[in-house]
Amino acid sequence: MFSLKGKKALVTGAAVGIGRGYATALAMAGADVAIVDIDVKTGEKTAAYIAKEYGVDSFFVKCDVTKPEEVAAMVQAVVDRFGDLDIGVNNAGIGILGGDEDYRPESWNKVIGINLSGAYFCAREEGRYFIKRKKGGKIINTASMSARICNCNASYNASKGGVVEMTRMLAAEWGRFNINVNCISPSYILSPMHASTPVEVRQRIRELTPLGYVERPDDLYGPVVFLASDASNYVTGVDLLVDGGHTLNAWLTPLSRDLPPRVSPEEEVVSLKRDLDNLGVPYDENAINPDLHPEVAGAFKAAFNL
Ligand SMILES: NC(=O)c1ccc[n+]([C@@H]2O[C@H](COP(=O)([O-])OP(=O)(O)OC[C@H]3O[C@@H](n4cnc5c(N)ncnc54)[C@H](O)[C@@H]3O)[C@@H](O)[C@H]2O)c1
Repeated sequence: MFSLKGKKALVTGAAVGIGRGYATALAMAGADVAIVDIDVKTGEKTAAYIAKEYGVDSFFVKCDVTKPEEVAAMVQAVVDRFGDLDIGVNNAGIGILGGDEDYRPESWNKVIGINLSGAYFCAREEGRYFIKRKKGGKIINTASMSARICNCNASYNASKGGVVEMTRMLAAEWGRFNINVNCISPSYILSPMHASTPVEVRQRIRELTPLGYVERPDDLYGPVVFLASDASNYVTGVDLLVDGGHTLNAWLTPLSRDLPPRVSPEEEVVSLKRDLDNLGVPYDENAINPDLHPEVAGAFKAAFNL
């Protein structure tokens, strides 16, 4: 029921981070997976690694998801190579930090352009293919807990709220073609996006999360395989929150623990270290490089008085 053997998938933003995690999980379940990204060097490494490690077909396709013509060519390239497409995972996304009172219109347009419009262009192209082939299909978008809580800024949170509503609308429209459209909402994930997050902030996240550790791309393996497989055939229009209970936390007192968390601080950063190795970025023992996203490091240092 959970097997993806013989299925053909594509994942956008799959060179590193959450997308690489999704592609890994789909390959582990038996699917052939196209690695779609703008980062050619890292994307090619990821595709080669997945093909070798899991014995599936995997190749890299360069595509900027903000360009509808590139997205159409990308879906065609995947169908040409694999002979079909069953699963489209639309994950490419960015955040640009900054208070809203001074936020630049270019930054707003870039975040909305990649996170919301890019995901929509991909879903639309995958949907067109699924409608044409008359065998249904699975579309999975990456939203975020930022669609539910106010933790970043208006552009990022609005883009993710938009992804959730876009997912629901497409699910309502395309159920008649046997197309399932769902999204996954992670919490703070240790991808390169968070490689400049100081240790003090990671510790704070652990303390505020009932399951007690910082989320890794690996924590999305099960959820993405579920939504890609026959196990979720009657699930559509859903935003699957995978946050270790982070957004449940309304206690005034600190959370206590009776057992150690399932994942240790050393294990939290195993995937992130592999990403940084693939990107050729140096890091310390905690997989931190403050220069990768200096704006993130600076904002957290100011907020935490570090
Ligand atoms: N890391 C987190 O804490 C977190 C939490 C919730 C949701 N998310 C979401 O998960 C998704 C993946 O995030 P991540 O943490 O792995 O980020 P990341 O920065 O580590 O990786 C993003 C990947 O997307 C690619 N990309 C960027 N712009 C692109 C474009 N225009 N076209 C194609 N590819 C592009 C990058 O090259 C990179 O490989 C994003 O949508 C993000 O908003 C992240």
